[in-house]
Amino acid sequence: MSNFQTLFSGAAAEFWLRWLHYFFGILWIGHLYYFNFSQMAFMTEADAATKSVVFQKLTPKTMKYFRYGALFTFLTGWGMIGHKMGAMGIPASSAWGTMVLTGGLIGSLMFLNVWLIIWPNNKVMIENAVRTAKGESAIPGVADLAARAAIASRTNTLFSLPMLFFMAAPSHLGMSLSDQASLVPYWSVFAILIGAIEFNAIKGKMGPLQKMAHVIHFGILVTLVLYFAMAFLAG
Ligand code: HEM
Repeated sequence: MSNFQTLFSGAAAEFWLRWLHYFFGILWIGHLYYFNFSQMAFMTEADAATKSVVFQKLTPKTMKYFRYGALFTFLTGWGMIGHKMGAMGIPASSAWGTMVLTGGLIGSLMFLNVWLIIWPNNKVMIENAVRTAKGESAIPGVADLAARAAIASRTNTLFSLPMLFFMAAPSHLGMSLSDQASLVPYWSVFAILIGAIEFNAIKGKMGPLQKMAHVIHFGILVTLVLYFAMAFLAG
């Protein structure tokens, strides 16, 4: 087969999906990091008029690329999983399946945080800025919605570390799992740890997540806990 044909063969479909997955992943996580590393710090220093302009003019644009980036990353990611586990028959309990599902499930929670918390709450914040700029009264409860969106966004930044580790690991880390070991202990550790962090995003407090250094350190810690749990409980 010529090099030209490799890009257009039937088997190349997964490669095109992978390429789109990178593009949408960068579009999404690029915005997430911009919000968390730069914009949130800027907003704590900005005066009320500047904040209002940001919500009215900038946030509608950033939120559009952010949420559709998330949607298409999610769809192309599950498309690849569907192709590999369905058409190619790779089992979910294989080392590849266990690692990719770890990254993919964290990524899917992040996607839900975008579409069910961050975007709906930001929509109200945008509307509130437009209304108050016209001299109308503020929407009640808008400060709580802003705080909840910020906690969910910080949580997604934390999640992005283990998510990226387990996204790249299936094809590059070379970790193997034992045929004898049950995956129940590993998935229990995963469910408790990731579930507790997600529960905090939905109901809990900002706490130490306020500081980006803590978010990154906590993200590294969660990555290591999942890695060691997988290696020792299922390896
Ligand atoms: C939303 C849920 C997500 C799912 C279900 C998902 C699923 C997948 C799958 C199945 C692969 C192929 C792995 C392999 O062939 O070994 C993959 C690779 C990859 N994904 Fe995701 N993904 C998600 C989110 C993300 C996000 C948010 C990013 C951020 C940039 C991302 C970046 C990548 C990268 C860079 C690779 C390539 C890894 C490699 O070369 O092996 N993914 N993803």
